[in-house]
Amino acid sequence: LRRQLVECRYDIDRLAPHFLSIYQSLIPPSEEKAKQKQLLLSLERLVNMQWPKARLHLYGSCANSFGVSNSDIDICLAIDDDGDLSKNDILLKLADILQSDNLQNVQALTHARVPIVKLMDPGTGISCDICINNLLAVVNTKLLRDYAQIDDRLRQLAFIVKHWAKSRHVNETYRGTLSSYAYVIMCIHFLQQRKPAILPCLQQMKATYSITVDEMECAFFDQVEMLHNFGAQNNESIARLLWAFFHYWAYCHDYTNDVISIRTGSIISKRAKDWTRRIGNDRHLICIEDPFETEHDLGRVVDKYSIKILREEFERAANILQFDPNPSVTLFEPY
Ligand code: GTP
Ligand code: MG
Repeated sequence: LRRQLVECRYDIDRLAPHFLSIYQSLIPPSEEKAKQKQLLLSLERLVNMQWPKARLHLYGSCANSFGVSNSDIDICLAIDDDGDLSKNDILLKLADILQSDNLQNVQALTHARVPIVKLMDPGTGISCDICINNLLAVVNTKLLRDYAQIDDRLRQLAFIVKHWAKSRHVNETYRGTLSSYAYVIMCIHFLQQRKPAILPCLQQMKATYSITVDEMECAFFDQVEMLHNFGAQNNESIARLLWAFFHYWAYCHDYTNDVISIRTGSIISKRAKDWTRRIGNDRHLICIEDPFETEHDLGRVVDKYSIKILREEFERAANILQFDPNPSVTLFEPY
């Protein structure tokens, strides 16, 4: 286990305004949110002509409050299967319905890992992906959104980390690096671990929200307006937290033994989860437990090549924040 650079530069907090202005520039304007809502309503109206009881839910970055400007939107169609139609039939039927309206590039991707209908709304220029009955994604979207309301520093940190990951091409699951969802979970875990803690562990508190999805109970404390002062004892700036985040993943995380878990608010051991060996395509080279699907390692996409790239990028970022005279530029230099 390599531990280096434990003290960060003396003037780190002076960088906070630079990072805050980058964060501000990434926040989507409120008109964009309004347009997304509008599109969702008009799609729901179309869908209801065929299936009156079906509902559309936003999930992913357009609804978890970690979305930057001009992202595509993710929609989940919640529909009771009455046994007559398979998921694929529903998808094809949905594509048919949408095709007949004034929408462009309507495509049903029935063979994708998560089958979807893709489309573009020419009125707003917004592209969307619609999946069927993926309610777990709707629930984990709510969990992330609730965490974001507790302390502003989570949203600031996650926006900057996502922006860094996209600039450095380490946010590409098809090439073995991590999803945006995984990065947000890493940020939540990190803020739960600060001393004093900046975020609580909502799944260890008294549940005020509970729903059963695919026979799995998803329960957590969601009255987050009561937690607005939770992180007040900790006054670390966004610049210091950003450095400490990369420093943790570069030099302090124990890749051989540890699993990060926002469900428990702690680190758990790979041995306890039986994640010590490669099974099929699950290599467990960086272990990030999904908060609800606990058998699911969000780092499963990482292979022996991409783990090296990832760790080099964490080190690069930590070193830039430590030594570079102009880190708010160098950090995001395109790869
Ligand atoms: P950007 O589109 O990159 O801005 O981010 P995003 O938040 O939309 O992220 P992403 O495309 O990674 O995932 C979209 C949503 O799908 C997430 O918010 C989750 O709700 C869900 N999701 C993505 N990956 C996983 C996964 O591996 N497991 C589970 N359970 N849900 C996932
Ligand atoms: Mg998305």
